[in-house]
Amino acid sequence: MTNHQAAIFEESHAHHLYLEFETPVITGALPGAELLATPVSRVHETLAFSGKVLDGIDHRLVPPELKPFEAIVGRDELVAPATQGDVFVWIQSNQRDEVFARGLAWTQALDSVAQLKQEEHGFLFRDSRDLTGFIDGTSNPKDDERLEVALIDSGSHEGGSYVMTQRWLHDLAAFHAQAIEKQERVIGRTKKSSIELDEEHMPPDSHVSRTEIEREGSEVEIYRRSTPTGGLTDAGLFFLAFSAELRRFNWILESMLGKTEDNVRDQLLTFTKPVTGSFYFAPNMLALNHIFA
Ligand code: HEM
Repeated sequence: MTNHQAAIFEESHAHHLYLEFETPVITGALPGAELLATPVSRVHETLAFSGKVLDGIDHRLVPPELKPFEAIVGRDELVAPATQGDVFVWIQSNQRDEVFARGLAWTQALDSVAQLKQEEHGFLFRDSRDLTGFIDGTSNPKDDERLEVALIDSGSHEGGSYVMTQRWLHDLAAFHAQAIEKQERVIGRTKKSSIELDEEHMPPDSHVSRTEIEREGSEVEIYRRSTPTGGLTDAGLFFLAFSAELRRFNWILESMLGKTEDNVRDQLLTFTKPVTGSFYFAPNMLALNHIFA
């Protein structure tokens, strides 16, 4: 599998910019071919689209499972809202100025067809920690397994990937007011070294218990690329994940919100809530070049 957007798997960059654009009806290729053809050194970008955009360009670009994100209402009035966007641009680099410049360039290139709706500046926090202080990504797939988990492995969409984005808003004062042992029971891992709690100490409503799940006989695996985002008054997480199947996102979200037979919800949602939600498709390079004119 060589035809995918390689930037998906570029890890450890300090600065990230997540841009979500809205478009009215699209009936042809998007402007931006020149920008796509002139990458900036040490700046990596990933582009993904809604079904509406792909269908407007060429219906053959739409992968079978792609659909707009639908709001989920779970237990205890927990809600994952839908704010479906149309074009998603993720820029990452160790140079914040170049990330900004590239974001501006994409916003200007798309200006005649797409309006910027959501802009999040993400950053690496310490050793890849979420702002709660817990390492995020410990059990993410590694090396070649990342490709198996994230990319469609055959057919005309080979190398493409389903994408989920969600902006989360934390209540850090409430989270940090708990004793460390309590925080660890919310996540399901130790705070300092990210060691998974043993069976005896793992609560059924920890984040790990709600996300480490099996469906149809297999473990539900996704490749996560979230980073902290926001300022001191709106600190949170930009959740970003890639998968070879879209349904895995819904399975995990429903488990977190307690929309499952066991009726158990994720305790992490006591301290943070999603405020946006979208599904996109990051097509392979061949298709990507077809999308821009
Ligand atoms: C504010 C929101 C979230 C925060 C702060 C957060 C944080 C974490 C942390 C600290 C871990 C444990 C370390 C690790 O293995 O990476 C973890 C695991 C995980 N999270 Fe999240 N997460 C959030 C939302 C989500 C969402 C929305 C999903 C999926 C829809 C998700 C899916 C997972 C999965 C699949 C694991 C690995 C479970 C395992 O196999 O051990 N998380 N998350």
